[in-house]
Amino acid sequence: MSAAASGWNGEALVERRDGQTGALMLVAIHSSRLGPATGGTRLRTYASDDLARQDARRLAEAMTCKWAAADFPRGGGKAVLAVPAGFGDAARTGLLRRYGALLRELSGRFATGPDVGTSPADMDVIAETGAPYVFSRTPARGGAGGSGPWTALGVFAAIEAVGERLFGGRSLRGRRVTVQGAGSVGGPLIERLLEAGARVVFGDPSPEAGRRLLERRGVERVSPEACLEAEADVFAPCALGGVLDAVTIPRLRCRAVVGAANDQLADPADAERLRARGILYAPDFVVNAGGAVAVTGIEALGWTPARAEAAVGAIGETLTRVLALADREGVTTDAAARRIAEERLAAAQPRR
Ligand code: PHE
Repeated sequence: MSAAASGWNGEALVERRDGQTGALMLVAIHSSRLGPATGGTRLRTYASDDLARQDARRLAEAMTCKWAAADFPRGGGKAVLAVPAGFGDAARTGLLRRYGALLRELSGRFATGPDVGTSPADMDVIAETGAPYVFSRTPARGGAGGSGPWTALGVFAAIEAVGERLFGGRSLRGRRVTVQGAGSVGGPLIERLLEAGARVVFGDPSPEAGRRLLERRGVERVSPEACLEAEADVFAPCALGGVLDAVTIPRLRCRAVVGAANDQLADPADAERLRARGILYAPDFVVNAGGAVAVTGIEALGWTPARAEAAVGAIGETLTRVLALADREGVTTDAAARRIAEERLAAAQPRR
């Protein structure tokens, strides 16, 4: 599962150009070894088709690691709807319905949920043509609703586990946490952190995001860029990926990075850069599995909310195992987490 820039070791990249909008629909199926490929659908504008393909492939591979590390019987996949600049609401419903039809054509080789740029309301539309391969519809349509609060719960459990490791206790009282992004995951995460007595600094490009949170005690807003350099115990990237690279890592002033964004490391070598600076990196695909695990568990495996909560809480224990393995083997935390994922994949019988 090396993220080598040259070759992608996935199973298939399905492409469909939507004639009516010009959007490029991409379904990247990285591995169905542990179960049907499942991952979010990302909707955004890319500078080129190739960048959209690259994003889909990388994110699909991250899903393989995510499910395997969480020990959940699903495979890695991701969809990207690369829309032209200025893509408006008028064209949205049609595109989502045609995308749903594509999911039905794939007859279950890929199932989806929300991701950056899509919501449970969008899942309702996709499900009109794409059911039953659509998770996280609104409760009104029989779905489990948004995955963001579940993801936030998993990130919180991961921060507690890191706290135990760094400070010798799980309590976050008085600890400083910087949250980059106050959206569907960052928002509920900030609330949990405040409830636990942490001091929170957050940033978000949208002035609306997080506005309500500013009424609470112990919270402060800075620019999204300033998040990176804020002095903190924990930096939690909860926006887009690629935030940790050769330029940003030297500027960090935190003891640990524990956040929800997918693909936080711009390059695999960044794991080593973080280690060299003595910053504990909690691998993104371990930390951010909560939403996918809870929603898919509830909808596909019939889990109760209590069962989902226990599964998401277990992210803390998984992370503790990863940190111990990294210590024992003298490897980066990212390498240790990939090793655990690879062992699960190797142990599984191929499904086809
Ligand atoms: N956005 C989720 C993730 O990256 C994907 C997901 C959500 C998958 C809900 C299934 C159900 O993990």
